Amino acid sequence: MTQEFNFRTMFDGVAGLYEERIIRAFAPMAANLISWIEPQGHEHVLDIGTGTGIAARLIATEVQSVIGVDFSARMIAIAREMAVMNDHANVLFIQADAHHLPFTSESFDLVVASFGFNTTDPRQSLPEAYRMLVPGGRLCFQEWGALHEFDNIISEVFRQYSVDEDDAGEELLSFRDFFAVERPWYEDLQNEEDFVMDLTDYGFRDIWVKEYQPVKVQMTVEEFIQYKTAWTPARVELAAMDSSARGDCLDAMRRRFYEFADTDGILTYAPLLLRVHAVK
Ligand SMILES: C[S@@+](CC[C@H](N)C(=O)[O-])C[C@H]1O[C@@H](n2cnc3c(N)ncnc32)[C@H](O)[C@@H]1O
Repeated sequence: MTQEFNFRTMFDGVAGLYEERIIRAFAPMAANLISWIEPQGHEHVLDIGTGTGIAARLIATEVQSVIGVDFSARMIAIAREMAVMNDHANVLFIQADAHHLPFTSESFDLVVASFGFNTTDPRQSLPEAYRMLVPGGRLCFQEWGALHEFDNIISEVFRQYSVDEDDAGEELLSFRDFFAVERPWYEDLQNEEDFVMDLTDYGFRDIWVKEYQPVKVQMTVEEFIQYKTAWTPARVELAAMDSSARGDCLDAMRRRFYEFADTDGILTYAPLLLRVHAVK
C-alpha cells in the first residue's frame, strides 16, 4: 500500500471500470431515485459524489441546472466526457470534497446524492449539504441499508479463497486494515431513527427516512460478479490469489449465484436502500 492510499485514490482506481462494470447496477437505482425526488423545473441542483455523473445527467432534463461534484479527478473527467457525449449543456462537473464545498451558502434548491455520502464523515458532509441549500430547499439521497444476501455470499466466498493472513504480504494486510475500519457514516447512521436525530440536529425539518427495496435490478450472473468484483477491496483480494485460486473463487461465486438465477441465468437484485428526504 502506498502512503497516499485513501478513499479518494480508491475511487480514482475504480473510475476506469465504472461505466463498463458498475453502472449497469447503479443506473437503475439512480433513475429510480430521480423519479422519486420529483424534480421541479425551476430547481438548481447539486449532485454530491456524482461519480461518472449518472444522476446528474438523468435529472438535468427536468431542472434548470446541475452541478456534479466528486473528489476523484478521474470520475470527474469521465463525467465530463459522458455529459458531452449525451449533449447535456446545463450540467457542470467540478472536482470538490463533500466536506468543504467550494460554493457560497444557499446556492442550490435541491441537493441530491446517490451513494455519494457513505465514505464521508456525516458530521461534516450533512451540515455542508445544509449550507448549500436555500431556505425551503430539499436534501434527497439514497444510501445502502442492511446488507443483501448476495453481499454475504460474496464475503463468504472471499473468506474461503482469500490469501491467508500468514501468507499475505504487508501491502495486502495494510489494504485489509484500511477496509476493515468502521466508516464514520455507518457508525453514526445505523437506522432510520439515527438519520432523523442527526438531520434534526443539523437544522433540517420535515425529515422522511425509510429503509426499503424500491428497485429491482436484473443482471446476468456474470454481469453481477463483474459489478461486485470491480470495487477495489475485491480486486485487491483477487489479484493477491494465484491464478488457480482466483479461477476457483470466481467459479464458486458463479455456482452460488446460479442458484438464485432464473432459467435464462438472470438474477434479480433488490438491495435494501435508505432513502432520505429533508427540508432546510
Ligand atoms: C459509489 S460512487 C456513486 C457515484 C454515483 N453517484 C452513482 O450513483 O453512480 C460514490 C462516489 O462518491 C465520491 N465521493 C466519496 N467521498 C467523497 C467526498 N468526500 N467528496 C466528494 N466525492 C466523494 C466517490 O469518488 C465516488 O465517485
